[in-house]
Amino acid sequence: MATDRVMRVLKKADLQAIVAIDEKTSGSNRHEYYERKIAAVTDPQRSINSSLVAEMDGKVVGFVMGDVYFGEFGIPETTATIDTLGVDPSVQNKGIASDLLDQFLMNMKVAGVNKVYTLVNWDDFALEKFFSRHKFVPSKRINLEYQLP
Ligand SMILES: CC(C)(COP(=O)(O)OP(=O)(O)OC[C@H]1O[C@@H](n2cnc3c(N)ncnc32)[C@H](O)[C@@H]1OP(=O)(O)O)[C@@H](O)C(=O)NCCC(=O)NCCS
Repeated sequence: MATDRVMRVLKKADLQAIVAIDEKTSGSNRHEYYERKIAAVTDPQRSINSSLVAEMDGKVVGFVMGDVYFGEFGIPETTATIDTLGVDPSVQNKGIASDLLDQFLMNMKVAGVNKVYTLVNWDDFALEKFFSRHKFVPSKRINLEYQLP
């Protein structure tokens, strides 16, 4: 039977579905984090809502959460970040994350974004390969850190 796949803008009511997907992939329940994050990305006073979900037969099976920055943090160009990407393990490797990413990038182009940034842990080779396949390259920005004593 053919499955009905759609993509749409993420809304507040998607919280539980997103927390459940993240729990399956990360092994921890991050309800509070996602509650705060979703409140922020859906706040029209803050920025445009660039975050998306993928639905399969009416059920949320994947999401991409991002942010758009219009010349903030001393960076003159319009940029976007991808903060979280997740797909339900039962439907991974079917191109859902790829479709979400392609749609996100297309929307960002329309919004006038010049560059999209994301952070990948240096030893997360699978995710690095995923982004590399989608033409992401190492950035000229350096990620600095300071370990508080
Ligand atoms: C990383 C993640 C988002 C990818 O989601 P996904 O929907 O499985 O991704 P895709 O299906 O688009 O691509 C995955 C692989 O399936 C393959 N694929 C894509 N479409 C396919 C199709 N129709 N049929 C068969 N294989 C396919 C791709 O070649 C791809 O391989 P690659 O990544 O080695 O290049 C998902 O594995 C996930 O949620 N992981 C856990 C959470 C995580 O690590 N998040 C990132 C931190 S924020």
